[in-house]
Amino acid sequence: MPRLETHIGDLTLKNPVIAAPAEHMIADGGLKAAIKAGAGAVVMKSTNESLPAKAQLRAAEYVALDSRWRPVPWGPDADPSTMILSRSGLHPLGFEAWLDQCISHYRIARDHDCLLIPSVILADLDHALDMALQVQQAGLPVLEFNIGTPYAREAAKGAVSTETAANRVAELTRAMTERLDIPVWVKLTGQSSDVPQLARAAADAGGQAAIVAGRLLGMLPDLDTQEPMLGTSGGFGGFWNLPLTCHWLALCRATLNGKADLIGINGVTGGHDVARAMLAGASAAGLASAVMLRGFDVIRESVETLDTYCKDKGMAANDLIGRAADARKAFADMPELDDHWKQFVPRESL
Ligand SMILES: Cc1cc2nc3c(=O)[nH]c(=O)nc-3n(C[C@H](O)[C@H](O)[C@H](O)COP(=O)(O)O)c2cc1C
Repeated sequence: MPRLETHIGDLTLKNPVIAAPAEHMIADGGLKAAIKAGAGAVVMKSTNESLPAKAQLRAAEYVALDSRWRPVPWGPDADPSTMILSRSGLHPLGFEAWLDQCISHYRIARDHDCLLIPSVILADLDHALDMALQVQQAGLPVLEFNIGTPYAREAAKGAVSTETAANRVAELTRAMTERLDIPVWVKLTGQSSDVPQLARAAADAGGQAAIVAGRLLGMLPDLDTQEPMLGTSGGFGGFWNLPLTCHWLALCRATLNGKADLIGINGVTGGHDVARAMLAGASAAGLASAVMLRGFDVIRESVETLDTYCKDKGMAANDLIGRAADARKAFADMPELDDHWKQFVPRESL
């Protein structure tokens, strides 16, 4: 078996590096570049039927920030600690044109042993089901169903969804899986105190994968204008999110117990982070902001770095899945240490 091959439900990816959707996955050029950079899967920029959701893209704004919350230039030279605050909207094309783009790029992806994944964000369920059926009829082998965007509270009413209740996740996933024969991957919000419950609801309702977990919202006051940067709250992410993602992945792995596969997302910035997400329980991991900020070489480098890591460890990527999660102990299992805490406080406090 090739070293990086991984399985998600019924599907096999040549490697676990997924080019996750954001604005660089809108135009043909971005999709092709991600495919050619060697991604195992590429997720198209999401669609739905909501006109306000499309209008939101025309009012979208983005800022890259350093660790002192100062805007920094966008591009590959940004420091690894760069974080992104943004407000986004959905794919600008109408559904039929979006589906045509999916179909043509699915074929290009297939020629590169890459999986092109269509993504539908929930607005109205009947519309989502109708779009999903058309995706299936077009011959696409999987659907990503995003019910966990960060923005439902901030966007126009009904434009996108942030589902935080397990019963809603179950109901929506079941509605999809009952209609579709192709696998459904459910993208979940991280704005929850219990992501594993959401993942279990998605798995019990037939979702083959849970994508864990969507970005959080943030608001950053600008000291000069004394207004929020970008004028609103926004999705906020960066490298720091990786441990939060890994924590959710580990808990989801324990809760799902193999019932569905996990895809890690949020804070993955390169091949070593893909390995970390896999050690935490993911079968694959998505990168969005890092690629949108730095370009498609991030994908190429991530695949190479992961390959080198696996080679050095004498392991296949598949063998990484869940190793750290399964080694995770409870606080009560840890040995008592001799005044260890005293090394971590200012001298005066002793
Ligand atoms: C500007 C922007 C646009 C995004 N658009 C979409 C989208 O259309 N569909 C979707 O499922 N996720 C979308 N996302 C979410 C990303 O796919 C990803 O889940 C999130 O950014 C966390 O991963 P990251 O840390 O790699 O960016 C978007 C993210 C950003 C920053």
